[in-house]
Amino acid sequence: MSRRPAVITGVGSYVPERVLTNADLEQIVDTTDEWIVSHTGIRERRIAADDEATSDLGLAASRRALEDAGLEPGDIGLILCATVTPDHFFPVTSNIIQDKLGADRAAAFDLLSGCCGFVYGLWTARQFIATGELEHVLVLSAEKLTSITDWTDRATCVLFGDGAGAAVVSAGEGDPGATGLLAFVMESYGEHGRLLRVPAGGSRRPVDEEALAARDNCLRMEGPELFKLAVRGIPEVAAKTIARAGLTQRDIDWVIMHQANLRIIEAAAKRLNVPEERLVINVDKYGNTSAASMAIALDEVYREGRLEPGHNILLVGFGAGFSLGGAVVRWGP
Ligand code: UT7
Repeated sequence: MSRRPAVITGVGSYVPERVLTNADLEQIVDTTDEWIVSHTGIRERRIAADDEATSDLGLAASRRALEDAGLEPGDIGLILCATVTPDHFFPVTSNIIQDKLGADRAAAFDLLSGCCGFVYGLWTARQFIATGELEHVLVLSAEKLTSITDWTDRATCVLFGDGAGAAVVSAGEGDPGATGLLAFVMESYGEHGRLLRVPAGGSRRPVDEEALAARDNCLRMEGPELFKLAVRGIPEVAAKTIARAGLTQRDIDWVIMHQANLRIIEAAAKRLNVPEERLVINVDKYGNTSAASMAIALDEVYREGRLEPGHNILLVGFGAGFSLGGAVVRWGP
């Protein structure tokens, strides 16, 4: 296998206009702003319009990433969309985006991997670039989680929001061990799958009247168990990823964790010994947007002008599966 570096050449994100605040949620379920902020750090989240589907969010983020990369849709060889809330089972969301973008030459497939989806997408893109198979891959993650939210379940409905982020991964020059997407560690713990799931809607249990009555077509979560797995798992996978990149924790300039809960981020950062100023946090504004969360955070820190060429960025995700995934990215050409 020939090896050449895979670098991020453009990023973009999009969140819907409508804001749902904690005060709004107080009108919907038995909760308080004080509980939500103290248990999660979330203050508000974005809600897609009724006629806005996941592909619409993903399309907007993709256009911004392409523009940032200075590429035309026709330059893209593969579109990879990570989502657990596709427009339909099929055609898959990446096919829809390929059509709407006018990316005539592109192949397209979806990645269904929960909150680690963006990292899985980058990891997959790197293989196609490293082998010389493709020049540019569009990796996007988009979610309309409010479409699978049970608005009667206060334990989950306060947590999630909608949004999308995208990155263009392109062939670079130089040493693949020192440029662009440096290292990945991806791990699956399927034995914990029951902790976060949509019970009905697949081949195991199609949606029937009974499932609808129980709202089993919506997301169900065992929050406290996931919390413990995340706080233990994130520092472990982060440390392995940093070591695989040949770096130490002190070399990491930015840490972008999956934005599920501020308490998880802070506890994991403490275990990792990462100072607060190196953490990228936006869970307060958007809640948990699953696969989209790290991509949105990456775009935000970039657009704020805080990323400099040569900066090392650690991305660490965890979520449905149970999956853990880490990536170290060296920013810039
Ligand atoms: O995206 C990746 C996967 N997701 C996660 O990683 C989520 C991980 N888990 C968490 O973030 C936290 O476990 C939650 C935020 C989900 C919950 O926080 P917690 O501190 O673990 O609360 P809890 O579930 O242990 O509930 C504590 C109390 C309970 O009341 P009792 O039994 O002590 O009387 C709940 O009924 O808080 C109650 N509660 C609420 N009260 C007000 C649960 N949800 C709410 C709510 N408002 N929205």
